[in-house]
Amino acid sequence: MNDAIVQLAYLVAATLFVFAIKGLGHPRTALRGNRLGSLGMLIAVAVTLVDARIVRYEILAAGLAVGGALGLWLALRTSMTALPQLVALFNGVGGGASVLVAGAALSLPAPSLLAAASGSVSGFVGALTFSGSLVATGKLSGALRFRPRSSMVSRFILLALAVGIVWAVLRICQGAMVLTDFGWLALVSLLFGLALVLPVGGGDMPVVVSFLNACSGLAAAATGFVLLNQALIISGSLVGASGFILTGIMCRAMNRSLRDVFFGRMSGDVGTGAGESEDQALVKTTSPDEVAMMIESARRIIVVPGYGMAVAQAQHTIADLARELQALGIRVDFAIHPVAGRLPGHMNVLLAEADVPYEQLFDLEAINAEFGEADIALVVGANDVVNPSARTDSSSSLYGMPILNADRARSTVVLKRSLAPGFAGVTNPLFTAPNTVMLFGDAKDSLVAIAQALVEASD
Ligand code: TAP
Repeated sequence: MNDAIVQLAYLVAATLFVFAIKGLGHPRTALRGNRLGSLGMLIAVAVTLVDARIVRYEILAAGLAVGGALGLWLALRTSMTALPQLVALFNGVGGGASVLVAGAALSLPAPSLLAAASGSVSGFVGALTFSGSLVATGKLSGALRFRPRSSMVSRFILLALAVGIVWAVLRICQGAMVLTDFGWLALVSLLFGLALVLPVGGGDMPVVVSFLNACSGLAAAATGFVLLNQALIISGSLVGASGFILTGIMCRAMNRSLRDVFFGRMSGDVGTGAGESEDQALVKTTSPDEVAMMIESARRIIVVPGYGMAVAQAQHTIADLARELQALGIRVDFAIHPVAGRLPGHMNVLLAEADVPYEQLFDLEAINAEFGEADIALVVGANDVVNPSARTDSSSSLYGMPILNADRARSTVVLKRSLAPGFAGVTNPLFTAPNTVMLFGDAKDSLVAIAQALVEASD
């Protein structure tokens, strides 16, 4: 195919990616954004397939078949709650692919300085993304529990590996034995990724996954420079830039800097106990009938969804209940914490799936001041994001994280199965607060029982 047409098609694909990202920025336009992105990817893949530089189609077809089948199998067998580890794995595979492509390009005789330099970036960032993402996948799935304790030793190892990386990059750019040096670079960078992510605690893993996602984009963009492929440069840069922005947002939401995440105090290490120490005598349990009675006399309810709502798959039940309450003249809003659940936007996606109108979803900053005016804060499977010790207990690993002010409502009803702590492993004083009642059980079962009690009360 004519090179000008190929470049034009890549430009069209890249433009579609830009509009896709713009569309994904708001729930209303997200579906259109997703479609534009898919169309861009279809064009990019189709044009690549007819590129004159492809030597053998059999190998391509085999790669497509094996990769496609593996991806489909993984996606189908992964539950909603295991999505973070799947995302981490896909990031890693993207980084690994960049290393292989850059390595193949550098194996051609006498690569230019641009190819050598950008190939080195791709090799370093891609390999660290690969090994770091495998560690993140292992940690998120619970399969990998190993964690070096001494941060001094970890830092020293990272420094030594960084020296090795700089040495390998300089040799690649000198152009003597490019492929051998690239192999060394990839190997040392793999170790760098392991040394960087192994010490990170589970509480910080979402930030790391977002960071590695950005790195996979950066590696792809660098590979784009090696291949002089503008679609890869633009789409890689988009993934890199949006990933780094998301990483910044998550760091702010968890009140941790990226330096803290990789080298600072470990999240989940320092807590005020692990749930069992909660003073059971102070916990007030309630029943669906009692909650129904409280609801009947309320005028404003703020629902705080959390990870437990996702586990219980209670989004449809709470959405139905909210509609019924609104029909009774009760105002119902949903307060969404930026790191509620296990994925960025986790709660928004689930509630959108249950047709909760966007106008009813409020970010932390928008709704936090209004809890004081709410009759009930209905906490559905949330824990860390409503933990008041984040405000007051400097020994808590949540200290400083902005939380939803569920404790400031006139009454707080917490739906969860036990007093067990949330993701950060920290005791939650909300459960023993004077205005809190606990309704123990699966969130969906509890909501069904409350709805049933409301119906019975109105008969
Ligand atoms: P968590 O603090 O993890 O608490 C979730 C609670 O849900 C648990 O305490 C659990 O208590 C309850 N639960 C589980 N299954 C349930 C069920 N079937 N029915 C009712 N309750 C159930 O969740 P959160 O408040 O959403 O906070 C999120 C945490 O995850 C934060 O620490 C955040 O930093 C971290 N994190 C966030 C992300 C992103 S990007 N969103 C990614 C990874 C990690 P029981 O076992 O007693 O029921």
